[in-house]
Amino acid sequence: MSGEGNAAGAKVTLHVVSSLDGFIARKDNSVSWLDSTGVYEAGVSISKEEAAAFVKAIDCYVLGSRTYEHALELGWPYGDTPTVVVTGRKLPSTKKSVEFYSGDLKTLVDEKLTPRYRNIWLVGGAMLCQRFLELGLVDEIRLTIAPVLLGDGLRLFGSLTEEKWNLKNVVAYKNGFVELSYAAVNRRTLAG
Ligand SMILES: NC(=O)c1ccc[n+]([C@@H]2O[C@H](COP(=O)([O-])OP(=O)(O)OC[C@H]3O[C@@H](n4cnc5c(N)ncnc54)[C@H](OP(=O)(O)O)[C@@H]3O)[C@@H](O)[C@H]2O)c1
Repeated sequence: MSGEGNAAGAKVTLHVVSSLDGFIARKDNSVSWLDSTGVYEAGVSISKEEAAAFVKAIDCYVLGSRTYEHALELGWPYGDTPTVVVTGRKLPSTKKSVEFYSGDLKTLVDEKLTPRYRNIWLVGGAMLCQRFLELGLVDEIRLTIAPVLLGDGLRLFGSLTEEKWNLKNVVAYKNGFVELSYAAVNRRTLAG
């Protein structure tokens, strides 16, 4: 992967918020740790308009079913942007923008997502992100690190084999969060 996406220009970006010690959720699913802000004077902040423009540029979200269920409980954060939920279950349809997918993940990316969308965001959870990484389906990792140690919870990364990634960008925010962007070293090809 080069981090620049596939031949058609589509790109799969894995984005999650992690604690300093590598957890993306507490065992009880509580999310108050995501609000744990610090102060870093040298950091940047982004305006509401900039944040809105950034979100508007996302063409599609991809979620595991547990993340989907949790997002519905918390208050849907994905607006009307097309969203694909990966599940082997028959889940009730709740939103027009949501479609469910069950099956091979490479087929999902190569036949359903990249022909339709360019800026594809895989936003969790850990299980689905790990499957995507194992299959080499991620072009970019954007990891936002929250300034908090949780000690326990759901780990983002499982037992993956060693793979090098290129650091592309680092942004430190005034609230103490840091965003790290990495591009995959080898290009993912549609042929596999
Ligand atoms: N901090 C963050 O940025 C962040 C981001 C996202 C989520 N989270 C948190 O992470 C937790 C959920 O993560 P999780 O790892 O437990 O679950 P998840 O990845 O959201 O969902 C797992 C489910 O996805 C489906 N799935 C995964 N791979 C599949 C495949 N190859 N084929 C078919 N279905 C597949 C299965 O659904 P079925 O069981 O329905 O078949 C599986 O049980 C929640 O607490 C959520 O709030 C945190």
